[in-house]
Amino acid sequence: MALDALSDSGFQNWEGEVVRQSFSHLSEQDAKSKLVVALDAPTVPDARKLCAKLRDSAGVFKVGLELVMSKGGLAFARDLIEEEHQVFLDMKLLDIGNTVERAVANVASSGFQFLTVHATNRKTLRAAVAGRNSQREQNLKLLAVTVLTSFDENDLREEGVFGQTPLELAVHRAKMAEEEGFDGVIASGHEAKSIRQVTNSNFIIKVPGIRPAGSEIGDQTRTMTPAEAMEAGASYIVVGRPIYKANDPAAVARQIVREMCAARISDRH
Ligand code: C5P
Repeated sequence: MALDALSDSGFQNWEGEVVRQSFSHLSEQDAKSKLVVALDAPTVPDARKLCAKLRDSAGVFKVGLELVMSKGGLAFARDLIEEEHQVFLDMKLLDIGNTVERAVANVASSGFQFLTVHATNRKTLRAAVAGRNSQREQNLKLLAVTVLTSFDENDLREEGVFGQTPLELAVHRAKMAEEEGFDGVIASGHEAKSIRQVTNSNFIIKVPGIRPAGSEIGDQTRTMTPAEAMEAGASYIVVGRPIYKANDPAAVARQIVREMCAARISDRH
């Protein structure tokens, strides 16, 4: 993945030991493969147009609730698989175990690459893993939603979560998801570093809430630039509005890939 080693340096861990780390840059191809574009379009024809503009500039297309609930949305997502795109179905599932297990089994057998499930409890996580593992086709990567990046401490209190910051809760949920056999998480860039420290290096961290320097934040509260997210340990970044609201979405995607390439990636990630 990483190409030219830039420099070696060390940092002291909490036990006072010096840990060596080196840094490298992503190639353009690698950066592209790690860019997930959220196709948050209102209709399938709109999503098709967006896809056509971006087919050479992004590695993964994310199909979320808005598009799936629109006419022909799920069929469109399946068409993208037929067209050999990597498709991330962002359904943020949460239901009783039996329902989650069977829904995930159907998603796994359809050839999707990624699916999100809320990581609020072990029963849901376990059911999702059982659903995926029940299928011969095992390519589906299960990603746990830790804490929505639009949530802050007030939102958590309203949910009935007291005495835990979004960061603490996200780290707790990430560990739980990994223990239950999940492949990765969706988490804010601000949580990526802490999650990396407590999970295996191949655990996927997909970071939404990305805003290239100078763009609007919208309803996200814990945003990062593409380079900051990659340096914090993101395996992929998820970008929606900055790309699909742009006059030239492909140009913005290319700019984001350039920003990803400029990031200094630590081999400790
Ligand atoms: O438009 P924006 O770049 O904020 O889009 C972020 C995308 O990532 C949206 O499709 C949103 O649903 C999704 N997402 C998120 N926070 C999560 C999980 C997914 O923003 N925790």
